[in-house]
Amino acid sequence: MAVGNSGRDRGVIASPNIWHWPAVYEEENRAQDTRGAVYAALRESVDWTGRDVVDVGCGSGYHLPMFARAARTVTGVEPHPPLVAAARRRVEDLSTVRVLRGSAASLPLPDGSTDLVHARTAYFFGPGCGAGILEAMRVLRPGGALAVVDLDATAHPYGEWMRADLPHYDPPAVEAFFRAQGFDLRRVDTEWAFPDRAALERVLGIEFGPEVASRAIRETPGTTLTVRYRLHVRRKPVGVEIR
Ligand SMILES: C[S@@+](CC[C@H](N)C(=O)[O-])C[C@H]1O[C@@H](n2cnc3c(N)ncnc32)[C@H](O)[C@@H]1O
Repeated sequence: MAVGNSGRDRGVIASPNIWHWPAVYEEENRAQDTRGAVYAALRESVDWTGRDVVDVGCGSGYHLPMFARAARTVTGVEPHPPLVAAARRRVEDLSTVRVLRGSAASLPLPDGSTDLVHARTAYFFGPGCGAGILEAMRVLRPGGALAVVDLDATAHPYGEWMRADLPHYDPPAVEAFFRAQGFDLRRVDTEWAFPDRAALERVLGIEFGPEVASRAIRETPGTTLTVRYRLHVRRKPVGVEIR
């Protein structure tokens, strides 16, 4: 991942997987966590039934319909214009869902207007995302939550490939950062299941550079992978005592 200046919003983080290979990323989303363990853990931490949800860095909007099944409203926020268009197409028949162009550090939303800000493998990668945390706290109602879902680079085998691909990524420092910012941490084990080897190889090929992708393909028999996620949740306090 690299910080770039593309787009009109500040702090946009280049996301080559979904920007350059949206169709393969769609296959990846379909294969990820087929048993729904991440959604279940999220639901145990934050109940969004009848509430207002914002999905920051929503990409092509894959997760928006899932939130829409129980939420009052769902707003996807995404900086990359082709993905804003793709997400809008995905939810065009869902009357409670909208997609806005914007970024985590500058959400196009009023203060105190939402109950859950969710981000999945988007923007909130550790040190450097403080502006987005402050922005989420601004748009949350008291008692609302910011939920950050990301891959756990400490877990075998996927995490080992991540660390080989991103040698400067420091999982303990990332976790210490979120802890210091007042987030709880829960680890969630999932299975990714692909329809065939070709799909698995395509997805590993967009997630890693060629060398690590070849290694990952070599080390994976069959069509499934175990992948661990981190779920970090920070709540906005319900009341502040003013002296
Ligand atoms: C790996 S994709 C994940 C997309 C989606 N959350 C999903 O799970 O399908 C990361 C997304 O974050 C978006 N992004 C990059 N910088 C961002 C920022 N500053 N604020 C919000 N989203 C950002 C990218 O454009 C991309 O759509």
